[in-house]
Amino acid sequence: MSLLVAPSLLAADASRLAEEVARAEAAGADLLHLDIMDNHFVPNLTFGPHVCAAVKKAARVPVVAHLMVERPESMVGPFLDAGADVVTVHAEAPGDPLGAFERVLASGRRAGVALNPDTPPEAGERFYPRAGLVLAMTVFPGFGGQKYIAAAAEKLAVIRGKVRPGTWLEVDGGINAETARHAVSCGANCLVAGTYVFGAKDAAAAIKSLRVAERSE
Ligand code: DX5
Ligand code: ZN
Repeated sequence: MSLLVAPSLLAADASRLAEEVARAEAAGADLLHLDIMDNHFVPNLTFGPHVCAAVKKAARVPVVAHLMVERPESMVGPFLDAGADVVTVHAEAPGDPLGAFERVLASGRRAGVALNPDTPPEAGERFYPRAGLVLAMTVFPGFGGQKYIAAAAEKLAVIRGKVRPGTWLEVDGGINAETARHAVSCGANCLVAGTYVFGAKDAAAAIKSLRVAERSE
């Protein structure tokens, strides 16, 4: 499958979200990545279902909700109702992440599982056979603009043999033209990039430079 690029709206201008969605789409975004943080699972607080619904209304490409929350089982329903096309839960989340994941599956939307940089690939074992997306976090979640952890992407080489064909193998955190090349060499086919895309003068050129990683494979 061809490489998917998912700009992360965490790095967008939050006072002009609809315009930022349009800017990312015009620049070639395949997906829009929305970081949901609850100030418990991670030390930051971002968007709720209400903002997700607003993003969905503005978007033409699929919206992916990356839930960095405790007890994701209580938040999956509201994000599905808000129109998220894909919902990703963290395997480490306290509560019932597998139940949350199964709720996404039951809705017919794409269900994802995310692993923190220090979480071994085995932690996702119960999710892989039914996952539509597996996210190897390449920074510790909570904030944009952090440095890429190369070793975290390397677990994709193991995970890639455990998932169905067509599963999105995603990396998130510190992605730029150079780190994208490494992530793709580890098996990534979906790149989340916040600062690199929204912080660029020319977002289209930034997205294009991420796609170079695919051609060098
Ligand atoms: C971090 C988030 C990322 C973040 C990536 O917790 O999950 O999606 O927006 O930001 P950059 O691309 O700036 O590292
Ligand atoms: Zn994210």
